[in-house]
Amino acid sequence: MRPWTILGIETSCDETAAAVVRGTPPGPGEILANVVFSQLEEHRPYGGVVPEIAARAHVELLDEIVAKALSEAGLKLSEIDAVAATAGPGLIGGVMVGLVTAKALALAAGKPLIALNHLEGHGFSARLSNGAPFPLLLLLVSGGHCQLLGVEGPGKFRLYGTTIDDAAGEAFDKTAKLLGLPYPGGPRIEAMARQGNPARYPLPRPMKGRPGADFSFSGLKTAVRLLAEAEKVDTADLCASFQAAVIDILTDRVRAAMAMFRADFPHEAAPGLVVAGGVAANGAIREALSGLAGAEGFSLTVPPVKLCTDNAAMIAWAGVERAALGAFDPLDAPARARWPL
Ligand code: KG4
Ligand code: ZN
Repeated sequence: MRPWTILGIETSCDETAAAVVRGTPPGPGEILANVVFSQLEEHRPYGGVVPEIAARAHVELLDEIVAKALSEAGLKLSEIDAVAATAGPGLIGGVMVGLVTAKALALAAGKPLIALNHLEGHGFSARLSNGAPFPLLLLLVSGGHCQLLGVEGPGKFRLYGTTIDDAAGEAFDKTAKLLGLPYPGGPRIEAMARQGNPARYPLPRPMKGRPGADFSFSGLKTAVRLLAEAEKVDTADLCASFQAAVIDILTDRVRAAMAMFRADFPHEAAPGLVVAGGVAANGAIREALSGLAGAEGFSLTVPPVKLCTDNAAMIAWAGVERAALGAFDPLDAPARARWPL
């Protein structure tokens, strides 16, 4: 099979990103360019992403970022095989900016369009970095998503568990905010937790041990709030205790999903566990999941951090996977705020 060279565009949240990736499934792929502009500073004063500010920033930045990606890759638009963009789920203003730009580029260059689910991008990122084989068990943990999925290929997902309230990254961000730590909370809490005592504050582990593999984090966040209101807390100890609770919840739910995956794919001798999404950047979480994978006979793959957080290389790679199947999209493909896998 000939390799595909795909331009990818990602604008579903607060990263304006474009990338060029070349490869053939199952990967690994070659990243020719991976340009990410984080709008963090624009949103920091508000303690979270403001959709209208994000959409306007994408409009201002995207053309330049696409040009930069092509120039870093040393390619002209005419040398690209197809243009892939996130078509949802996400903040609709931003998604529209990225998708319309991709449509215009595809039309102008006479190349096919690939309108992608952002989650598929995260889901395949370990194939881009490591050539991870299908089927694989995916823990997707980001600011907007918290899911356990069996991944068999483009468009072929089994949902084992999802959050019934907050996403894991959202729990980090909200907890950080109520402790007075700046946005985004994940990296701050991880840094504070390194100096704290995880056994200092007893915090709940919602859903732990329950049937199924769903998650819940809002009770944990509330417990932190009540504690911080009731007494003068030690921030480092509370961060460490919070992170320990998140790790406990995640490992319990992943263990449950591993059993479901084994039942669905009994012939996989050493099945793959992939952790993707921004929260996968957390070293303590990676370490705990690595221990779990070892104990349960799974082989763990965590893509490099720059492929775990939102980026366009994963979108370009998901485009490679779809292009290899001839799965292109019409130019009237819709932008979707909500788009479950
Ligand atoms: O995948 P991502 O860049 O964007 C979304 O699609 O949401 O994930 C961002 C999320 C934020 O909630 C951030 O706090 C969290 O990932 N995050 C972390 C860490 N680094 C980023 N959470 C825990 N520990 C970290 N080191
Ligand atoms: Zn994401």
